Amino acid sequence: MNPRIRLCLIVFWCQVMVITAVTDPNDLAVLNAVKSGWQNLPTNWKGSDPCGSNWEGINCTNTRVTALVLAGMGVATDDIGDIPSLSMLQYLDLSNNNGIKAILPSSIQNLKNITTLILVGCSFRGPIPDSIGSLKQLVFLGLNNNSFIGPIPPSIGNLTKLLWLDLTYNQLSGPIPISNDTASGLDNLVNAQHFHLANNQLSGPIPPELFSVNMSLIHFLVNNNQLSGTIPASIGTVQTLEVVRLDSNSLTKVVPQNLTNLQTVSVLYLSNNQLTGPVPDLSGMNSLLYVDMSNNSFDNSDILTWFTLPSLTTLLMEMTQLQGEIPSNVFQPQLEKLVLSNNLLNGTLDVGNNYKSDLIVDLTNNSITNFTQNFGYNLSLNLDNNPICKAGSTERYCATGKPNPPTGFPSNTCPPAHCGSNKVLSPNCKCTCPYTGTIYFLSYSFSNLDNTTYYATLHDALISAFRFNQLPVDSIYISNAILDEYNYLQYRLHIFPSSEDYFTRSAVSSIGTVINRQNFSIPYYGPLFFLDDSYLSTGKKSSNHGNVVGVAVGGFVILFLIVSAITYAIYQKRKASKAKQNSPFESWGANGSDAGSVPQLKGTRWCTFEELKRCTNNFSEENMIGTGGYGQVYKGTLDTGHVVAIKRAQQRSLQGAQEFKTEIELLSRIHHKNVVSLVGFCYEHGEQMLVYEYISNGTLKDNLTGKAGMKLNWMKRLKVALDSAKGVTYLHELANPPIIHRDIKSNNILLDEHMNAKVADFGLSKLLGDESKGYVSTQVKGTLGYMDPEYYMTQQLTEKSDVYSFGIVLLELLTSRSPIHKGKYIVREVKEAIDKSGDPNGIYTILDPSLGSFQTLGGLTKFVNLAMSCVQDSGSDRPKMGDVVREIESIIDLAVLSLDVESSLTF
Ligand SMILES: *[C@@H]1O[C@H](CO)[C@@H](O)[C@H](O)[C@H]1NC(C)=O
Ligand SMILES: *[C@@H]1O[C@H](CO)[C@@H](O)[C@H](O)[C@H]1NC(C)=O
Ligand SMILES: *[C@@H]1O[C@H](CO)[C@@H](O)[C@H](O)[C@H]1NC(C)=O
Ligand SMILES: *[C@@H]1O[C@H](CO)[C@@H](O)[C@H](O)[C@H]1NC(C)=O
Ligand SMILES: *[C@@H]1O[C@H](CO)[C@@H](O)[C@H](O)[C@H]1NC(C)=O
Ligand SMILES: *[C@@H]1O[C@H](CO)[C@@H](O)[C@H](O)[C@H]1NC(C)=O
Ligand SMILES: *[C@@H]1O[C@H](CO)[C@@H](O)[C@H](O)[C@H]1NC(C)=O
Ligand SMILES: *[C@@H]1O[C@H](CO)[C@@H](O)[C@H](O)[C@H]1NC(C)=O
Repeated sequence: MNPRIRLCLIVFWCQVMVITAVTDPNDLAVLNAVKSGWQNLPTNWKGSDPCGSNWEGINCTNTRVTALVLAGMGVATDDIGDIPSLSMLQYLDLSNNNGIKAILPSSIQNLKNITTLILVGCSFRGPIPDSIGSLKQLVFLGLNNNSFIGPIPPSIGNLTKLLWLDLTYNQLSGPIPISNDTASGLDNLVNAQHFHLANNQLSGPIPPELFSVNMSLIHFLVNNNQLSGTIPASIGTVQTLEVVRLDSNSLTKVVPQNLTNLQTVSVLYLSNNQLTGPVPDLSGMNSLLYVDMSNNSFDNSDILTWFTLPSLTTLLMEMTQLQGEIPSNVFQPQLEKLVLSNNLLNGTLDVGNNYKSDLIVDLTNNSITNFTQNFGYNLSLNLDNNPICKAGSTERYCATGKPNPPTGFPSNTCPPAHCGSNKVLSPNCKCTCPYTGTIYFLSYSFSNLDNTTYYATLHDALISAFRFNQLPVDSIYISNAILDEYNYLQYRLHIFPSSEDYFTRSAVSSIGTVINRQNFSIPYYGPLFFLDDSYLSTGKKSSNHGNVVGVAVGGFVILFLIVSAITYAIYQKRKASKAKQNSPFESWGANGSDAGSVPQLKGTRWCTFEELKRCTNNFSEENMIGTGGYGQVYKGTLDTGHVVAIKRAQQRSLQGAQEFKTEIELLSRIHHKNVVSLVGFCYEHGEQMLVYEYISNGTLKDNLTGKAGMKLNWMKRLKVALDSAKGVTYLHELANPPIIHRDIKSNNILLDEHMNAKVADFGLSKLLGDESKGYVSTQVKGTLGYMDPEYYMTQQLTEKSDVYSFGIVLLELLTSRSPIHKGKYIVREVKEAIDKSGDPNGIYTILDPSLGSFQTLGGLTKFVNLAMSCVQDSGSDRPKMGDVVREIESIIDLAVLSLDVESSLTF
């Protein structure tokens, strides 16, 4: 053959090979097996050539599958099947699929080439297999936020290339493994930069052998375990450390002076241990930004000179036996937050004139007798329970510090717009369906959560990571910074798609893996993880989401509500899903410590999961009587014969153990005939359920719209108004402690078989005077249309916010309209109707026609006036609930009188 022709043929043959590149038959078989065993895989997983036909979530090199990324795709399985047989796999990320309830098989060792294994926020269970130590190429191992049990396998110490080890939020127990003659240990991981072992049940000492000069550790996080013994002096040899979190363990004895060798540490937590001896002297640790040593048993001590370290932004030394006077040079310009509550500090507090204008100082429970200010009062200072604030003092430094206003970034500058269902206005003013979730920072170096600089820094870092990875992201919105009970900093994250209305599944997946792989650093912020809100099921429409974004626009009042819609959607969303991993229910019993003691309940039963399952016929559809952002509500009959409504929190709305406990303790104390009472609760099998008395006649809303089958007449409406006003008054004035409902609306007022009204749903309740979480806990909560504009703008929550919402309910009773009806806000409509005629009776134009002639409605004018006084712009102009009750009583007297007149005329 002519050599030229032969060459042509070879070239041709090669091209054919490339075009029809066949996936390796072994890899194809594995993927087909996965396809048959998993639910909800990408729909384009079709045909017999995954590599050639670009199956979503798969990357190939030549014919072999080298990456599998199914993050946040909502896939589910009980068995990861043959994935370990994808022997050329280098990158595996299954994060944020809590339907993956599998064990990690020991065959995982077959992934010999794997460098990156990310399984964040799934439901993996069982032990971490020892064979994981065979994955010699592993650089990044993220197993956090699962339900792994058993010990940390010592073989992890064989992974000498490992840079990142994250086992946070599992149920791992036993010691931190270190090497000996026969086994490996974490001390061998001299290249590793990240040990994140927090929120497990690790016990035993922190082994001194763990640390050596050879190490490269930057982040050492072992907080929230059960570690005991002393802090080893050898930690001082690891000169690379930047973040050290040893808090919430049972560490004892004196803090070794060697700790101060750590010249590069910027974040140091020793809080919530049983450390003794002198307060550690941190002089010379000039990189320190954030220090928390609260709740230890140090010797009595004056304020130390290192408290004035120039870089400190945050110093938290609650309950540490500090005494004497606070020198004014502690208040240096960098400081953002100083918490020295529950100490023995005395004398005069002089904050000097060099402090930051938004400084937060908490000095509650000390012995301070005087306060001087040369500078005007612009800091947030709390001196409650000091002699200076004794009895009846009204100085503003004698009350809880100012609440942290929930901020978002970037701020909204869009004109009002009507986005369809499930869509939200992006910062670039486009209606799209954002991918949402919560981002958690295990450490951070600042405290002023609403400083825009920190928001902007995070924003820019994420945007540039998305740009760098060429992801189709238009913009992001970051909001609602809060500190959770573990001092992790959480933000809500909205990520908006660039061109289409929705992200594709693979875009969602790529975004998830870029964030959780965290191949970028962010100034001021430490390591993070990201848990999403299941993008793919938002299409199924959670009713809250629909409420928020599906509302038509119009009118000034609505404008700012819509402007805040994005922010607002967030508050309705789930709490941290940590409860899932850390089932602390057991710890209400004998041994645990994280949730404190058994809840103090009055007349509230502890129901078993089995009982509730049985009485709702296995939570069957037929028994479902409602659904909301929180979860489903089922009707059932308890073994005791009580008919009950069972609120079952969906996975996404689970609260932390402490929050759940607080809520049921609170609810169990509420007993009033106009308030729905809690009968029991269940906290088992990772479930949180609240069991309420069953109220047979449905919500006020249904009764007003005619959905419940009958229309309420005027007298019945007045009775409903009176009953519910009494219920709210009870919460404000008689409950101990007083409660602000925060979500009064016609959907939360239920009618029983005698048409008595009862106020329901304290999911958002806040104790009056609850200062345990201080300024960080207050978030704007409520329902669009009922929310007090003053509360929204100032974040100052008072009972008057409930009065506002109650006023809206009164307007609903008059008009039978939703607060936002065809894009119009009820308050404005009523105002306009009255203004036009110059007469409160002008309301007749929008009065519910089924009420009949307005002339026959006794007390109508007074009722209208009452409603309008409740929705005054300024809380101080609104009546108290007790006044509202009395006014409604007098309206009822008028109505009865006019009935009498009417009937006397008729007969
Ligand atoms: C998969 O391939 C795409 C396109 O080449 C690339 O952008 C992405 O980074 C790859 N993903 C992984 C995990 O390797
Ligand atoms: C996979 O690992 C083998 C050895 O285990 C090595 O020869 C090969 O080059 C690796 N493949 C890739 C793509 O890194
Ligand atoms: C880890 O290394 C030790 C020796 O240091 C060896 O005995 C053990 O088999 C290795 N484990 C794995 C899973 O590779
Ligand atoms: C070595 O360590 C392993 C686990 O870390 C432990 O099971 C074993 O008993 C130890 N061996 C010796 C000789 O201490
Ligand atoms: C503690 O520090 C001192 C002096 O800096 C040093 O001599 C000693 O070896 C250190 N101890 C440990 C256990 O590293
Ligand atoms: C403050 O407390 C210290 C130590 O307890 C004590 O010596 C001092 O006299 C007190 N000062 C004042 C002004 O009470
Ligand atoms: C508080 O301090 C100021 C300024 O030093 C002083 O004038 C005042 O008398 C002090 N008050 C008390 C009660 O000691
Ligand atoms: C916000 O934080 C930055 C960075 O720490 C700081 O420079 C700036 O002064 C802060 N702004 C305010 C208003 O405190």
